Amino acid sequence: MSYYTFEDYYKNTVELSFTDHPYSPLPKHVWVICRFKGQWLLTEHPRRGIEFPGGKVEEGETAEVAAVREVYEETGATVDDLVYLGQYRVNGKGGTIIKNIYFATIEKLKLKAHYFETNGPLLLNELPATISTDKRFSFMMKDQVLERSLEYILRNDITTF
Ligand code: GTP
Repeated sequence: MSYYTFEDYYKNTVELSFTDHPYSPLPKHVWVICRFKGQWLLTEHPRRGIEFPGGKVEEGETAEVAAVREVYEETGATVDDLVYLGQYRVNGKGGTIIKNIYFATIEKLKLKAHYFETNGPLLLNELPATISTDKRFSFMMKDQVLERSLEYILRNDITTF
């Protein structure tokens, strides 16, 4: 089945699988690959750079609720459809984090005066093939999680690009 192990940008070991919550039934982090009317919807993090929205699951929240909230806070977008894709575990120096990966379809993007922890939304027609060496992009976009997730979305007809 689809289990992958690789190193991230910081040389931490990452395990990734597109199966049903392989590493934790209750992950504390979420990451959401977003499409808005034929474009990719990302956010610009002030330190990390361009990335798909995401963050921590708060006390009392489900991972799905956190995913919808983070997308809104970081981009102003309302999620219309959220599909669970898979999960990954990063074994870092400071501990282990586990993230659910989702695909979100967005219909409405509201321009806000302030965005929680980010500089707001960024729409791209294409994800450049050179992301892994492009300084504008966040480290989170630079390992196999992104490319494997895009592959999975295509292979499973989750959307058409
Ligand atoms: P905040 O500043 O509150 O967001 O927390 P934090 O800096 O402790 O970050 P967090 O707990 O989200 O992540 C801790 C570490 O895990 C980071 O410094 C990264 O090394 C790693 N990490 C977090 N998210 C990802 C990810 O999506 N991919 C990879 N490869 N590593 C990640």
